[in-house]
Amino acid sequence: MKRSKIASLLASDSLVGSEVDVRGWVRTRRGNKYVQFVALNDGSSINNLQIVFDMNRFSDEQLKPITTGASIHVTGKLVESQGKGQKYEIQADTLEIYGTADETYPLQKKGHTLEFLREKAHLRPRTNTFGAILRVRSALAYAIHKFFQEKGFFYLHTPLITASDCEGAGAMFQVTTLPLNDLPRTEDGAVDYSQDFFGKPAALTVSGQLEGELGATAIGEIYTFGPTFRAENSNTQRHLSEFWMIEPEMAFYDITDNMDLAEEFVKYCIRYVLDNCRDDIEFLAEHYDKDLISRLEFVLHNDFVRLTYTEGVEILEKSGHKFEFPVSWGIDLQSEHERYLVEQHFKKPVILTDYPKEIKAFYMKQNEDGRTVRAMDVLFPQIGEIIGGSEREADLDKLQQRIDELHIPMKDMWWYLDTRRYGSVPHSGFGLGFERLLLFCTGMTNIRDVIPFPRTPKNCEF
Ligand code: 4AD
Ligand code: MG
Repeated sequence: MKRSKIASLLASDSLVGSEVDVRGWVRTRRGNKYVQFVALNDGSSINNLQIVFDMNRFSDEQLKPITTGASIHVTGKLVESQGKGQKYEIQADTLEIYGTADETYPLQKKGHTLEFLREKAHLRPRTNTFGAILRVRSALAYAIHKFFQEKGFFYLHTPLITASDCEGAGAMFQVTTLPLNDLPRTEDGAVDYSQDFFGKPAALTVSGQLEGELGATAIGEIYTFGPTFRAENSNTQRHLSEFWMIEPEMAFYDITDNMDLAEEFVKYCIRYVLDNCRDDIEFLAEHYDKDLISRLEFVLHNDFVRLTYTEGVEILEKSGHKFEFPVSWGIDLQSEHERYLVEQHFKKPVILTDYPKEIKAFYMKQNEDGRTVRAMDVLFPQIGEIIGGSEREADLDKLQQRIDELHIPMKDMWWYLDTRRYGSVPHSGFGLGFERLLLFCTGMTNIRDVIPFPRTPKNCEF
């Protein structure tokens, strides 16, 4: 017989009374000598399907291997359930045991802490919580492609191995095939990269933006969606060493068009999750964050507040609030500052614009004041910065001057500067941290819990 997924069995009435075939992992078994009940989950939904074993037809011996974590294959009749808690159940006719799970199976009981489950990241997808998160993550990835594809954006594949440091932060993982304990040297004692695989230093990308700009200034509107690597030693609840980023880049967009797109985009994603992942979101709300659904709805129904960095800093300075990091014009805002603006002051998502040029990357369009650039960061409740973006400097001379000021090796940037040298156009883009969006949508508080296998400093297990 063909296997049915539990999600589709529970969603349709048409199969009631018919013989079905289900396969999955046992969550629990209980009962007495007349009848035994097994809660089966196959990952297709947060909901289990109840299997009823009539003990006139099955022996104790046959059911003995059905312990928490075991995998089984059952055929039987789908019927309306007499008991509470489920609409349908299966009256088992046949049973096949695929794999047993003895008492060493780590997920015996319910209610493990998230910390415990992080150490069992290879098995945690089998828990209700991580099943829900992985399904939401998949739905959200689909929503992102759907949003951009329906708008006529093209999906551009930017390289993961690169020789340029887009964000200029120097937080890159080097990629090399040189023998680390016997490095070739040049005459002056430096490492001889001409002997390395690419003939020069290379690293994992921190952003696909620079290549994204090459795409946008040719085919108009593109987006990237891929893994991104940052070797920052920040052990926070919001940073990963390997995370996924979505970077749209658009020709002929100014910063206002950019902000409009960012707002429409995140609202679309949140709406998609509410409409398509209801059971999972309700489960997460019930177990982790009672306000989750109202917070998601709230973001959908409110315009994001837009103000400049300078205005934001004034609000923070006048707030009288004691921040761990003191506020003054020119500082890089910390998450406590961002969250104060969003959660205490405006009580809405905020887009801050026109940051001091010193704290932003070289490629951002310079304002007339000579001090600020056309940056925009979208700040969210609980999260802080969820999106960072800008209008780009389209003027070759101004861009070159900024590259000089920051001592960025010019010869490495020749290809990027060609976009400004030939047919330069106003253009803008932004980057959304996929896991930060997932934190917001699932109500989780630690970014390690919204990616299947987190990479953080000193942690590369699984
Ligand atoms: O603000 P960032 O560094 O911007 C860029 O990389 C630009 N090139 C984007 C662009 O304009 N195309 O990163 C963008 C977003 C942040 O707002 C944050 O959501 C996420 O990426 N992010 C991280 N997420 C998880 N772990 C980290 N270490 C992250 N660093 C940034
Ligand atoms: Mg940023």
